[in-house]
Amino acid sequence: MISTKLISILKKATLSKDEIVFLLSLSGKEEIEKLYSRADEVRKEFCGDEIHLRGIIEFSNHCEQDCLYCGLRISNLELPRYRMTSKEILKTVNCIVEANIRTIVLQSGEDFSYTKEYISDIIRNIKEKYDVAITLSLGERSFEEYIDWRNAGADRYLLKHEIANPRLYSAFHNKQKLGDRIHHLQLLKAAGYQVGSGNIIGLPGQTFVDIADDILLCKELDCDMASFSPFIPSNGTPFRKVEKADVELTVKTIAVARIVLKDVHIPATTALGSLVENGREKGLKTGANVVMPNFTPHPYRQNYKIYEGKICITDDPLASVGCLNLMIEGLGRKVSDGKGHSLKLFKN
Ligand code: 5AD
Repeated sequence: MISTKLISILKKATLSKDEIVFLLSLSGKEEIEKLYSRADEVRKEFCGDEIHLRGIIEFSNHCEQDCLYCGLRISNLELPRYRMTSKEILKTVNCIVEANIRTIVLQSGEDFSYTKEYISDIIRNIKEKYDVAITLSLGERSFEEYIDWRNAGADRYLLKHEIANPRLYSAFHNKQKLGDRIHHLQLLKAAGYQVGSGNIIGLPGQTFVDIADDILLCKELDCDMASFSPFIPSNGTPFRKVEKADVELTVKTIAVARIVLKDVHIPATTALGSLVENGREKGLKTGANVVMPNFTPHPYRQNYKIYEGKICITDDPLASVGCLNLMIEGLGRKVSDGKGHSLKLFKN
């Protein structure tokens, strides 16, 4: 049975926090299906049927931070660490371009051994050679670095706020504060980046109200991209025995985020694909419009171990992209041949 309350909420242009919490707490099968089909309609209206592939290079798993949930945390002494050189990174960029993917995501732990200049040179080298967009995901750095990298040609920056509850944020991040994180996201916007934020679903103590706040924070920050990915435990962390996230809650969050945020890019994350079979497909059917195939070369990729059981660890990246293409075709959607810039850039 579908309640009249649900029908009236799904017709609204703007949702209150209470209404978002109501949607996240839906439990009837029919009502959840209704939520998913509304999210898919909103996705179609604002993003069309194109799916954007972003080729990700996880170029260093060294991290200064000590986040309680993350396998890359500095205190995890079990993890073999690696750093890729600019030469190795550029070779990997070439593989991504050969797979016809036009966004390069450069991601690492917070590794300050890569200086402002070193990263700027990599960005310039990529931009001189290829017609691609560059997304950086390097954690919290200085405003000067953000400006320099933007001037070198970086287009986008991903910095998830992780959890919008300040008390839980402080409990999970030994050195960081939520206010600082938000400040960095504002600096990135001011520096002219297309900015991505988002949360982790299923962290201990997190409530539906917290998840509603996560979605609303992405709205308030006017994010161009927003990622809602499930918690999966990692060995070598204090959260190794915490239950993994609920699949349905993760997918509901993606759907509600699409309905609330409308014209943002939302990925069907690798973590969702690792949590459950066909996870990325589920995400794409319920609001997501982006997938991020992993191009980190062997032998490094097995050690970018944010959580256990990450998919495609042994695969050849080109084969993974081939599978993604087939999956996307199967959904009746289309892989974009553009760079997939912010959906907000072309609006007045
Ligand atoms: N499970 C799922 N996602 C995680 N991340 C970090 N640790 C985990 C985990 N255990 C996410 C964070 C970070 C991104 C690179 O990985 O959201 O921003």
